Formats: sequence, structure tokens, C-alpha cells
Amino acid sequence: MNLITIDGPSASGKGTVSNLVAKALGWDVLDSGALYRISAYAVQTKDINPEDAQTIAEVVGKLDIKFQEGEVWVDGVEVSDILRQESTGKMASKIAAYPELRAALLDRQRNFIHGVPGLVGDGRDMGTVIFPNAPLKIFLVADVNERANRRYKQLVDKGVVANYDEILADLQRRDDQDMNRAVAPLKPADDAVVIDSSHMGIQDVVDSILKEWAKKST
Ligand code: DC
Repeated sequence: MNLITIDGPSASGKGTVSNLVAKALGWDVLDSGALYRISAYAVQTKDINPEDAQTIAEVVGKLDIKFQEGEVWVDGVEVSDILRQESTGKMASKIAAYPELRAALLDRQRNFIHGVPGLVGDGRDMGTVIFPNAPLKIFLVADVNERANRRYKQLVDKGVVANYDEILADLQRRDDQDMNRAVAPLKPADDAVVIDSSHMGIQDVVDSILKEWAKKST
């Protein structure tokens, strides 16, 4: 099975690494965080009570979601920019704790493996819950100060006014929420390869994952 799972905390570089690994292998990517962000977008735009897990799961189950050429479409609307907003990420982290929502997204995620040459699953529970039989599972970590630094630089480079202390506090809150929820908490699978990217460049991380894959597939 051509499948690599890459799990890890916010701002660990998972998204970039997943895309580069997939590109090198000619595979597709499942950006599972986007599905939780899309769910948050639905809560925010359809005036759903963020505490009402059952309704959120039902509404999300019916959404028409398309990923095409780097864009995300929900019920015919292009939402890529909205999904990247901090407020969407915060709401995503909150509602991702609901077992009802996680169950509603389970099959949608597993279906990504069908009809593709291979898949990189990017998320928090790819190796533990969604694809427990994946032949290679990566858990990508980085020191929280380093992650805050990277996010701060990204924002400043984009010309956005950013506050380092706020970014750090926000990441710590997000880590806490993602790691301590009862259902599918962020943690390495027992058979995951843990990579600490605190002092590594993106390309080094990509190369080390490709090396691990080469070991598996020979
Ligand atoms: O990776 P991201 O920042 O786009 O994810 C947004 C939120 O979605 C994150 O705080 C936790 C949640 N999430 C999750 O619970 N499980 C996943 N597989 C992916 C994301």
C-alpha cells in the first residue's frame, strides 16, 4: 500500500513536508486539517451553535467538498483563504474534539486512498485512527518556541502585523487542546518514526522521510 501518514502539532511544517513528499513520489495528499477547518467554516457561516456536536456532524456529513489544484470548494464556494484564518483554525481545534464530527469525517478521509497512485495523510490522527495499517507513519515534532518563531516569520513575510507572545500562547493552547482531548488525541502511533525538526530545514525532513519510505519499499 502506497501510504505515508504524517502527524504532528500545529506549525510543525507538516503541510509543507506532506506536499513535498507527495510531489517527490507522484502521490496525492489528504489535508485532514482542512476538513476540520471546513467544518468550522460551516459552523461560522451556517449559524450553527458551536456546542451542538450532533448538528455539526449532520451538516458536515452533507457538505459537497472538493479539493482541486490547491483550491478548496465547499458547496460551490471557493473557501481556501477563509480556511487559513486564525479564527477558523481556533474553531476547528475546538470542534475537532467532538466524537460525532470525527465519526462523520472518518469515511470521507479513508476514501482518499481509492484511485490514487499513493497518498500522504497529513493530520493529527492519520497513523493512529484513520490509517492504522499505513506502512510508514511519521510523527513530526518541533519545539514550541521554534514553531512560534516560524509562524511569526511567515506572517511578517506576508506583511501581517504579528505578535510573537500571542502566537506562542495560541500554539500552546492549541497543542493542549489537540493532545488532551478524549477522542483521537494527537500522539505518535506505537510504530511511528518520530522526527524532531527543531533544528532541521524542510528539505532535510523531506529527505529523511523519503529515505524511510525507500527502506520500506525495498
Ligand atoms: O492542521 P490544521 O492546523 O489545519 O488543523 C486544524 C485543527 O483541526 C487542529 O487544531 C486539530 C484538528 N485536526 C484534528 O483534530 N485531526 C486531524 N487529523 C487534523 C486536524
